[in-house]
Amino acid sequence: MIIKTENLCRQFQSGREIVHALRDVNIEIRPGALTILRGRSGSGKTTLINLMGALDKPTSGRIYFDNQDITTLSEPKKDELRRHSMGFIFQSIALMPLMSAYENVEFGLRVAGYDPKERKKRAEECLAMVGLAKRMHHRPQELSGGEQQRVAIARAIAHRPKVIFADEPTAELDTNMGLQVVKVLKDLVHEEGLTVVMSTHDPSMIDIADCVYTLEDGMVVDVAE
Ligand SMILES: Nc1ncnc2c1ncn2[C@@H]1O[C@H](COP(=O)(O)OP(=O)(O)OP(=O)(O)O)[C@@H](O)[C@H]1O
Ligand SMILES: [Mg+2]
Repeated sequence: MIIKTENLCRQFQSGREIVHALRDVNIEIRPGALTILRGRSGSGKTTLINLMGALDKPTSGRIYFDNQDITTLSEPKKDELRRHSMGFIFQSIALMPLMSAYENVEFGLRVAGYDPKERKKRAEECLAMVGLAKRMHHRPQELSGGEQQRVAIARAIAHRPKVIFADEPTAELDTNMGLQVVKVLKDLVHEEGLTVVMSTHDPSMIDIADCVYTLEDGMVVDVAE
C-alpha cells in the first residue's frame, strides 16, 4: 500500500462546538490504482485528502505514506515530500492566466529543479498524454474548462509524483467534460502506473474507479473494490 491511515481523527473547533470531520478512518490506497472517495457535502472528503497530502495535521491517528509515518514529520520535510512525491489537482483550476498551457507545465518543472532540455521534453510529453499536443500554446482562456483541467493534470504529473490527489476535479465541469477528465486520469493510472486519489459526489464517476470508499459524517461506511 502506498498510503495507509490508522484511526485517523480530525476535529475542528467551530465557535463553542467541536466538529468531528473525520472519525477513526482506516483506509488503504493501492499503488497503480484509481481510488475514489465519495460522500455527501460535509462528509469529510476534503479533510481526508488534505491529511493524506500532508497539508493538514490530524487530531489523532497515523498516516503512513510509502511506509513512513508523516504525522510526525517537520514542516520542511513535509514540504519536500509534497514537492517530490505528490501532485495536486483542485476543483477550481488554478492555472497562470498569462502563460500558455505549455508554459504552465514547464514552470512547474522549473520550480522542481529540472534542467531546460528535460523540462521541454517532459512538458510536451505530459501535454500529449492528456490529449493537448495540438493546443499546448493556447492560454487558459482560449481553452475549454475540461481542457484547462487536463492542463492541470499535466502539470500535476510532470514531476513524476507517486500519488496524485484530486479534490472534486470535475465539480465545475458538465458531466460530459467531467467524464473526459476522469478518463484521462484513469488512462494515466493504467498506462503509466500512476496512483490517483480523487473525491467526488458525482455517482456517474464511480464505475470508473478501482476502489471506492464511501464517507458519511466523517466515517467510512463502505469499501468497494
Ligand atoms: N476549517 C474548518 N473549521 C471548522 N469546520 C470545518 C473546517 N473544515 C471542514 N470543517 C467541517 O468538517 C466537515 C467535513 O468537511 P469537508 O470539507 O472535509 O467535507 P467534504 O466532504 O469535502 O464536503 P464538500 O463535498 O462540500 O466539499 C464539515 O462538517 C465541515 O463543515
Ligand atoms: Mg470538499
